[in-house]
Amino acid sequence: MDAFSDKLNTLVDEIASDGYSIVDHFLSREEIDSILELDDFKNSLLHFKKAGIGDTINKQINEGIRGDYIQWIDRATAPHPLRNYLSKLEGLISAVNQGLFLSLKDYEVHLTNYPPGSYYRRHLDQFKKDDHRKLSVICYLNKNWKVEEGGQLRIYHPDGERDVLPLAGRLVCFRSDLLEHEVLPASRPRMSLTGWMLDQYTDLKHL
Ligand code: OGA
Ligand code: MN
Repeated sequence: MDAFSDKLNTLVDEIASDGYSIVDHFLSREEIDSILELDDFKNSLLHFKKAGIGDTINKQINEGIRGDYIQWIDRATAPHPLRNYLSKLEGLISAVNQGLFLSLKDYEVHLTNYPPGSYYRRHLDQFKKDDHRKLSVICYLNKNWKVEEGGQLRIYHPDGERDVLPLAGRLVCFRSDLLEHEVLPASRPRMSLTGWMLDQYTDLKHL
């Protein structure tokens, strides 16, 4: 068994018992650098769009709920560093399908930048009736992140709150239908790859 499959097996066990799992070094330093060096990420506030919430809530309310900028990944045209990440996510999907009964079929991922001071208020990732999101999967890209810089992901677990620092290479995965969470404001830009594992094939409506 290689180190990557070990990580995936631990993830599957933890999702089954706790509803969430944190995997450090999901991406290596080199993999992170190659993603951050992509033009899209280098000029992300120029290229990304302000994220929305569902399709019902108006912009002003939205402003008070989440402040991140995003860009959906198109699998067909994604550059190598992103394809590499997506293929690791495909490994995660097959491990989850073998170890849990979620029958994941597809996934969707966006690049994300939270500018300093922005946040995402407490929410659940399944906000629509027809939501097929089963697992939320976020990988952070922030080197040398310090506690005092904030930006924690706060998970409201039934056993208590869990604060997760957005450390480079760290992957956090949790049940989209069960665990409310929020993103606390940070004093520096907070970069990540944010995605969902779906139990139905996506129609790529975001692209
Ligand atoms: C989201 C979200 C958490 C994070 O995009 O829905 O909750 O840590 N992100 O970025
Ligand atoms: Mn969320």
